[in-house]
Order: sequence, then C-alpha cells, then structure tokens
Amino acid sequence: MLIYNIGRLWGADAEGTMRLRRGAEMDCVESPEHAWLEFDPHTGLITGMGTCKAMPAPEEGDMDARGGWVFPSFCDSHTHVIYAGSREGEFRDKIDGLSYEEIARRGGGILNSADRLHEASEDELLAGAMERVEAMMRAGTGAIEIKSGYGLRTADELKMLRVAARIREMVPATVRTTFLGAHAVGREYAGRQGEYVDMVIGEMLPAVAAEGLADYVDVFCDRGFFTAEETTRILEAAARYGLRGKIHGDELAQSGGTEAAVAAGALSVDHLENAGEAQLRLLAESDTCATMLPGASFFSGLPYGPARRAADMGCILALASDYNPGSSPSGDMRMVMSLGCIKMKLSPERALNATTINGAYAMGVSDRVGALGPGREANFFMTHALPDLAYLPYAYTEPLIKGCWLRGRKV
Ligand code: NIG
Ligand code: FE
Repeated sequence: MLIYNIGRLWGADAEGTMRLRRGAEMDCVESPEHAWLEFDPHTGLITGMGTCKAMPAPEEGDMDARGGWVFPSFCDSHTHVIYAGSREGEFRDKIDGLSYEEIARRGGGILNSADRLHEASEDELLAGAMERVEAMMRAGTGAIEIKSGYGLRTADELKMLRVAARIREMVPATVRTTFLGAHAVGREYAGRQGEYVDMVIGEMLPAVAAEGLADYVDVFCDRGFFTAEETTRILEAAARYGLRGKIHGDELAQSGGTEAAVAAGALSVDHLENAGEAQLRLLAESDTCATMLPGASFFSGLPYGPARRAADMGCILALASDYNPGSSPSGDMRMVMSLGCIKMKLSPERALNATTINGAYAMGVSDRVGALGPGREANFFMTHALPDLAYLPYAYTEPLIKGCWLRGRKV
C-alpha cells in the first residue's frame, strides 16, 4: 500500500536508529516534502519511504494524499485509563476551592476510584477503558502506557492489569503496562503505610511478576503519599524481577522522587510540576526521561512543569496525557501538545518530539513507534496541508486530523 503526494512527511526517520531526542535534536523534526510512504497492510510495518523523484508507480487502491501532511501517531507514555465511574463530584469540590490534596485527605481521590473499581467486574472495566482507548486512537494516539493503581488490594491490582493485557491484545495501538500498587495506601491499611509497602513488595509484586502482567513499576512518590525511601525499596524489589521504574515524582512537592528514580535507573520520572534546577540537572545527566503532564496542571490548577528549562538543559523531555478520572480526564494528545506550547513555552518542534519519539522512549518502544521509516509500525495520522507546523498546536480545537492509521489500517 502506497500513500503518495504527501505534502510533508513529519518525523521521517530513514535510518531507523532514532530512539530519543535531546539537546539540539529536540529543536528539529525531519519533514521531507513531496514524499511517499509504503507499508505492508499484513504486517502493519513500513516498507519504504522517499520523495517524489524515486517513487514506485501507484497502483489501484493506493492513496493520493493530495498534498496533505502525515505525522507519526502520538505516543502517550502515562495514562490511568482503566477506572470505574468518574469523579465529577470532586470537580465540583475543586470549583469550590478544595485542592487535590485536601480531597485525598477527606478519603476522596484515588481511594474513591479504588472503592468503585473493587465493585466492577473485569468485563465492565474493559468496556469502559476500551471506549476511552478507541477515542484516543481516533484522536491520533498510536502507543499507550496503562497503569494499575486503583486496585490497592492484590486481587484488584491483578484485575486491572489483566484488563490492560486484554486491551493490548485487542487494539492496533502499541500498549505497555505499569504496576502502580503504591499509588495510595489501601483503606484496609489506613494508618499502616509501612505494612502496606511491605505488602506491595512481598505480595503484589511477586503476583504481578508471576503472571508477567507488567512491563514497568510505578510509585506515587510525593508529599502525603509515598516517601523516597519507600520508592527506593520498591524499585530495588522491582529490579529483582527485571522491571524498571516509571515514577510519579515532584508533583505536589520536591519529595526526593527524582533522586530515587535516577539512582535506580528508572526509565522516566513523571509530573515534575515542582521540580527545581537540581532535579532537572540530575535528569539531564541521566537517560531517565523527564515526562511532564500539562493536562494535569490545566485541570488541577497545579503549576506547569518546567519543560522549556528541561529541554534547554538537555533532558529527554516527553509530554503525556495522564488520562485519569481525578486530575486529568482527557487523553487528547493534541491538547497536550497545545498546552506544551501555550503554557510551557515549548516550540512546536519540541512539543511534537515530546509527544511522539520521546513519548515512545518513555515507554521503551522507540524502535518501533514515534517516527516514520522502514521497519517501524505504520502508525500515522493525516491533516490537510497546514501553513506551518505551528498551526497544529495553535488551532487547538480545530478538527485538523482527517484520518488515523495504526499498523497500516484506518481506525
Ligand atoms: O497522575 N498523581 C497521582 N496519580 C494520578 C491521579 C490519580 C487520581 O487522582 O485518580 C496522577 O495525576
Ligand atoms: Fe499519573
């Protein structure tokens, strides 16, 4: 299958070696003009790419892009899309002035979602999450990381991860799963946080590993949640099962999450709304990705993470949606890209790299997705010819995406 007459092919990666972008590379995106892309609809992989000079002759069934632009699908490396119910009651509380932490202290927040998830069957959870994942795919996302963390009991954490495994089998998007048992202290362990952490390490983690249900391990390391010491213990235990960390850190306060994660060789530290120079310096000197979540700042009224500074300092910067019912009820990566530009002052090129190739890096799949070239998955979306790359994040509610393909098939 050939797509020809592509006005600009964004994220073209002929070498197939581009796995992350940092420093000066973060400021540019390859975008050949008058391009074509060829893929095998059976394997879903790209087989060729080039500019009009050396183009295979179009055959019946091939597609004329009529000068439209092609982009690599977004890679959303941080989501909590499996949940039961919704939390619009807390939305009202927030309008009336309560903070995320106050809501959590009153027993709302994550514990509220855990109560509802406990009541829901695997099939009910799957149906709800699939609706969200399908909407994300139609909005241009082609790779999704999915966390547990609303179980907080072994059986319920396993239930969430089994749902994630079923989603992975069902959708053409690339899915990676993360065990987040240490998201909050489960109700049964109220006042016994140490014992809860022991249980996460001694009971949950071995069960998750035995079923092969997680690619990564996460901890909500922050003020009022888990400490840096607890995070280190969990990451050390995870390493014994060959699992790397993807840590929630420095969202509410500088709480040692970045330090613990970098020391343990984590793949990413996510949130970072309150990260300072010292944390960014550590990240810049490491291969741990700095993942920022502007949708959570927008929705929850938190400061925006220092994304521009992080990119200037040479961090591997990714942006993700944090799609969840409490702090970011949206998986729209175009909106994430726009917030990255508007609120975090990223150039459109930086925002595109942060939502594609670096997002892929932050979930360990940047050899297959996040850019377009031979051997990679045929995951892309099309727009008509735009006046400039900046138009994509600028026209932030215009329905610019005209079609999405994952593994070579239209979704
Ligand atoms: O990434 N910060 C911690 N966890 C989620 C929110 C979870 C929730 O409130 O349900 C987040 O924002
Ligand atoms: Fe999160």
